[in-house]
Amino acid sequence: MSTGPDNDKNRQDLLPEPLQSEEALHDPFDWYREQRAAAPVQYDPKRAVYDVFSHEHVKTGLQDAEALHRKQLSGGHMDGQSPFSYLDKGMVWSDGPDHKQTKGQLFKYFQPGLLAELEESIEALCEAQLETALEDGTRFDFVTEFADPVPLRVIMDVVGIPGDEHQQMLDWLNTFRAVMNSEYSAAGSRDEHKMEEPVEYFQDLVAERTANPQDDLISELAHESELSDATIGANCFDFLLAGQGTMSELLSNALYLFEHHDITGESHELSVVLEEVLRYRSPLQSRARETTESVTLGGTEIPAGETVILWIGAANRDPAQYETPEQFVPDRNPDHLAFGSGPHNCIGAPLARLEAPIIMRTVLEYFDEIELLEEEATPMSKASKVGFQTLPVETTLA
Ligand code: HEM
Repeated sequence: MSTGPDNDKNRQDLLPEPLQSEEALHDPFDWYREQRAAAPVQYDPKRAVYDVFSHEHVKTGLQDAEALHRKQLSGGHMDGQSPFSYLDKGMVWSDGPDHKQTKGQLFKYFQPGLLAELEESIEALCEAQLETALEDGTRFDFVTEFADPVPLRVIMDVVGIPGDEHQQMLDWLNTFRAVMNSEYSAAGSRDEHKMEEPVEYFQDLVAERTANPQDDLISELAHESELSDATIGANCFDFLLAGQGTMSELLSNALYLFEHHDITGESHELSVVLEEVLRYRSPLQSRARETTESVTLGGTEIPAGETVILWIGAANRDPAQYETPEQFVPDRNPDHLAFGSGPHNCIGAPLARLEAPIIMRTVLEYFDEIELLEEEATPMSKASKVGFQTLPVETTLA
């Protein structure tokens, strides 16, 4: 397995030069506009990747999973017992027939009808979290004290992980993200052994729910699906991983845009405005793929074995697709690529679309006023994401 930036092809987070500042990462949209206008698909020799900017070609790239596939964590050559081999059984890291078969079995558990019963518990969770956040006064950090834990606890509840373990889960998700990023640091290496503890936890949890079923997704999968124990455990980890940060970013981007555009629960249909938030500041700005064969995209020939970065955030502001793409139009209700497209599209989109309006409505109703302390906020520091690491707020209770 490769360990350093010189020989690793998965370079999604090696920053393009124009994005190497906090301001540019918070607002990469000028760069997207210039690049998209110059050419929809371009090769960057410094990062040794092909960047794709137009809506048409990002969508094609997302949908063509045969020519542009996801790279496995283990690189396909780890021994079967390693933590990455276990996690590779998650949908996020697999492709082809295995991926299709797993997704086919998991898809039905995320249908809107089945999720509707979560509504009350989401509201209660939000209120409890706001009470905790306000214990020390009217000022709190909207991200770390609210938007990080709430969606995590929702998905933990669905999966069947006790709510009081949420800090442990968050620590493991952050460990995983650090392991994934470490390959880009000078001395870094992907130390998959750091993932041994969470993998053991999920192995034990699946075994425990097989023996003592409860009313949760793990028990249902263990008893009703044909999926192996490892596939169930790895996908439950993926649900937490894929559903936690993205939701936190959607909520902080929503609060930021709501405050700048005077959006309230009374003035707007929040489920509609949130679709525009997803288009305008997509939590996942880019996804990486590797070519399995030579492909021509937007007139550029990409040889086999190359890394391709599909810039979802640029596609979602393509003037060929949207009128006034650089404007935030609350009632636009756009069709967008924020949840991906094709075989890897987001299985959690119905859950995200159910919980985000409930969470934002609860927040807006809880307070008379929310002042964003933007000077003290920390934007995300990755090119693949747009959101906030911290977003302090000063509040007045309703
Ligand atoms: C605003 C919130 C969310 C956004 C913006 C988002 C975005 C995405 C995107 C863009 C993809 C496609 C990735 C690719 O093609 O490489 C994806 C896949 C996925 N998402 Fe989400 N997601 C969100 C919430 C959730 C939630 C709540 C869950 C929890 C179940 C979830 C679980 C997944 C999983 C498991 C995949 C992988 C599916 C596959 O590879 O077939 N996501 N998501």
